[in-house]
Amino acid sequence: MGICSERGDGDAEGNMKALILSGGRGTRLRPITHSQQKQLIPIANKPVLFYAIEDVIEAGAEEVGIIVGPNKEQVIETVRSKAWGAEVEFIFQGEPKGLAHTILVAEEFLGDDDFIMYLGDNVIKGGILKHSEKFRESGPDSLVLLTEVEDPQRFGVADLDEEGRVRRLVEKPKVPPSNYALVGIYFFRPSIVEACKRIKPSWRNELEITDAIQWLLDSGRRVEASIVDGWWKDTGKAEDILEANRLILDEMRPKNEGVLRSSRIFGRAVVGKGCVIENSEIKGPCILGANCAIRDSYIGPYTSINDGCTIEGTEVEDSVIMEGCTISRAGRIVESLIGKNVVIRENGRRPAGHRFIAGDSSEILL
Ligand code: TTP
Repeated sequence: MGICSERGDGDAEGNMKALILSGGRGTRLRPITHSQQKQLIPIANKPVLFYAIEDVIEAGAEEVGIIVGPNKEQVIETVRSKAWGAEVEFIFQGEPKGLAHTILVAEEFLGDDDFIMYLGDNVIKGGILKHSEKFRESGPDSLVLLTEVEDPQRFGVADLDEEGRVRRLVEKPKVPPSNYALVGIYFFRPSIVEACKRIKPSWRNELEITDAIQWLLDSGRRVEASIVDGWWKDTGKAEDILEANRLILDEMRPKNEGVLRSSRIFGRAVVGKGCVIENSEIKGPCILGANCAIRDSYIGPYTSINDGCTIEGTEVEDSVIMEGCTISRAGRIVESLIGKNVVIRENGRRPAGHRFIAGDSSEILL
């Protein structure tokens, strides 16, 4: 079901579409995902989904279909808050029944065009332009992105022939045929739609994209591989979000649009408009969004603090803090993922001690 569409003034070449997956349950990111779709979690203060949209547009997609699920309104509103250089359409999946199921749900949108399928919680260094060019030049039924991993037993793994073509795909193999794991980015021709119709749900009752690609292989179609040479991150878990945040911050250029009073910035920091930093030290790489107030604090490397946060009398390092948080005399905060409008402050009342109002599935380490 197409929910809406809006036309941009794209300048992409060729007839390529993109299907970006922003549905799913995100159970591994609870409690953040009780109230927020995981693809909207900010990495270096930008929703992770935006990296995917930018990548597919740069790679030549003229029409972008975004699969939405449970929290569809938030995704639509967030994506629409920005102008994109392509037509953007939202496609409602309902129950998340698997990656191959999203292709069936999007059948009308996809039509007879080639398309990029991109998992909306994945981030890759340097985009996908190179891989898109390879797909266009080589013209296989599918081109899958692969990355070398140390623990292929945890991934979908490709068995490659001498020419680098995919012979077979195996899910979480006990004896891996290679160290090349599937990244959540694929290029397809319309033949994948038939493949998705032919396969049966897996043991976890999902239509698996690996089964659909294997169906292509079994019916004699050509599936090629393209190796990712920079980093790639699937942000399905909190530690992966922190790692993706470090990787992106490492490449950020410094910019200071805030006001500093008796404060110093060391290294590469981005300080947004309307920020007031008093009696504090900021050590990059880090980013502060717009209108943050930082007082008597230390903001250390690999920290992203989103718009409208107040931090006082606290040290924060290696953390992602979403918008509207107030953190006051909270000691030292490290490796933390903190949702929107969270308040953390010293308990000045009696009885002394830690007081919590923590939502379901919260994790608190003292
Ligand atoms: P997953 O991370 O495998 O699944 P999930 O989002 O349900 O998370 P969890 O395992 O923690 O419960 O999904 C990969 C990506 O694909 C992610 O961006 C969500 C998206 N997706 C859909 O849009 N529809 C689906 O049916 C499924 C299974 C995933």
